[in-house]
Amino acid sequence: MNIENVFTRNQEWVKEKLSMDSAYFNKMSSGQSPEILYVGCSDSRVTAEEIMGIEPGEAFVHRNIANMVPNTDINVMSVIEYAVTHLEVRHVVVCGHYLCGGVKAAMESKDLGILNPWLRNIRDVYRMHMEELNKIEDENARYDRLVELNVQEQCINIIKTSAVQRAFRDREITVHGWVFDIKTGKLIDLNIDFPKVLSKIMEIYHLD
Ligand code: CO
Repeated sequence: MNIENVFTRNQEWVKEKLSMDSAYFNKMSSGQSPEILYVGCSDSRVTAEEIMGIEPGEAFVHRNIANMVPNTDINVMSVIEYAVTHLEVRHVVVCGHYLCGGVKAAMESKDLGILNPWLRNIRDVYRMHMEELNKIEDENARYDRLVELNVQEQCINIIKTSAVQRAFRDREITVHGWVFDIKTGKLIDLNIDFPKVLSKIMEIYHLD
């Protein structure tokens, strides 16, 4: 791949957009009002817009290694605050993916330097669900399940934020946990039963 090619491709993209709608960029510069906040993995194979089939302007996107939502991470917390409180998105999505290198790394005991504290958050997810995970004998199936449970835990972290708690009281907002299957290209809704999952932890976090 020649990095210089991106500018040629950009020119082609501009032409293509303008051929469909000559006011495309004028409209774009008037502001954004996305309905979705998407939190996904930085993995180069799991793009946000392409897998959802959406256009620029439709999703506010945050990506990091293994789609994590640690409550001490000022970056993801700022994104949630801005998207939920100011842009008033109606849907918040955490999208994980099978074959996630971050989740895989957390399952192995290797020293990865600065990545260690980040991956610790996924190891904590493993610890929280150790009983269920250790029962799964097939390693690939256990890996897949950890990807799913990590999505679930990050959704809970999102629900616990004050921005989302406030939004729940004031308006319609829904949190979704999805997984992208790299092998098939399919986006899967985990259909997480949040009332059930949350019922066990409500008292600890004083959630409504
Ligand atoms: Co990943």
